[in-house]
Amino acid sequence: MELKVALLTLVLCAAAAAATADYVRPPPRAMLSFPWSKKDSSEPEQVHISLAGEKHMRISWVTSSKHSPSIVEYGTSSRNYSFSSQGESTSYSYFLYSSGKIHHTVIGPLEHNTLYYYRCGGEGPEFQLKTSPSKFPITFAVAGDLGQTGWTKSTLGHIDQCKYDVHMLPGDLSYADYIQHRWDTWGKLVQPLASARPWMVTQGNHEKEYIPLLEDSFKSYNSRWKMPYEESGSSSNLFYSFEVAGVHVIMLGSYTDYDKSSDQYSWLKADLSKVDRVRTPWLLVLFHIPWYNSNTAHQCEGDDMKAAMEPLLHAAGVDLVLSGHVHAYERSRRVYNGKSDPCGAVHITIGDGGNREGLAKEYMEPQPEWSMFREASFGHGELMIVNSTHAFWSWHRNDDDQAVRSDQALLTSLSGTGCLAEKGHELRKMLLEP
Ligand SMILES: [Fe+2]
Repeated sequence: MELKVALLTLVLCAAAAAATADYVRPPPRAMLSFPWSKKDSSEPEQVHISLAGEKHMRISWVTSSKHSPSIVEYGTSSRNYSFSSQGESTSYSYFLYSSGKIHHTVIGPLEHNTLYYYRCGGEGPEFQLKTSPSKFPITFAVAGDLGQTGWTKSTLGHIDQCKYDVHMLPGDLSYADYIQHRWDTWGKLVQPLASARPWMVTQGNHEKEYIPLLEDSFKSYNSRWKMPYEESGSSSNLFYSFEVAGVHVIMLGSYTDYDKSSDQYSWLKADLSKVDRVRTPWLLVLFHIPWYNSNTAHQCEGDDMKAAMEPLLHAAGVDLVLSGHVHAYERSRRVYNGKSDPCGAVHITIGDGGNREGLAKEYMEPQPEWSMFREASFGHGELMIVNSTHAFWSWHRNDDDQAVRSDQALLTSLSGTGCLAEKGHELRKMLLEP
């Protein structure tokens, strides 16, 4: 194993010169079209699942009927449901649109790494989900700015093939952009994947849908994509954390207050104070607007949040930061405060799931010293965390309908280095600050 890791390191180092790929990419693809669905049905649709605390999973779905119960029946053999859970429901209206009944039901305790069969609302088709492993290895799929175009379909197909345990989406989900039925069509588009593995999301600008005096921000997103914020001691669905198989993942909101007097900052300090790097050697953070971006699109948009929060994340020894927003891919070296830093985090921008706005093709020149690899193509990422110290990251470009590995890196956790010992004092001081 050690020899394999050493050989892989050698190969990756040889390919490690900072690179901007020179690649001729296929043209944009149109929005997908969806058949109109029948009304007043209690048939579950838009089924998706998310982690909801130790050994629990939240099942979410929509029915057009307001009378369908928020019950989930489940078990480890098909059509034989030994357990059932009763959940909650909500709905919302937005201008002239009225949503269906949105159900959220937590099931568990569940066994790790186990296939479960389940049914929503007491009728309709049976779904299957696989719970996450309790320990390494674990594989995350990552794609931001997904949308619902032909390229989205291609990306989802590639993710489906990669045998992931948990999907993470750093913002910009449906590109509904005020047109609410697009949330419904997107829910149907992702259901085959999102009903089978937990999808953990955070919000982007396309989730905001704010209309002054008429509609609040994130109304549809919060109603439909309930994440485990209560389970992680947060007061808002816009920032939360979860732990899975030795990994602590923090989801932050780029469009909610983040300064030192904000609820989000206070919650982040409290959450970091609970992180135990023996129990969870890996510490990951996701948010929408990248802090390290050498694409000309969205330049410097993340600077204020970076100024407010980067010192805290650096003191905590964050291993990897994943962002979206810029419709291209970029991977940094370990970086902090604008420069390479051996105790900083690796930042990856992966806002290239397949949205209708197309790619951001222009880059700043010269390529900054912290920027390791950058390419404007649609694609997805895979993060296989092998053990407490090593992980393998790869980014897969959508080359027509094939997934082609275009970037890869061996990542090491800061928990296996002297960085954390050095930062302990710094972190304690910041956590104690009023
Ligand atoms: Fe965005």
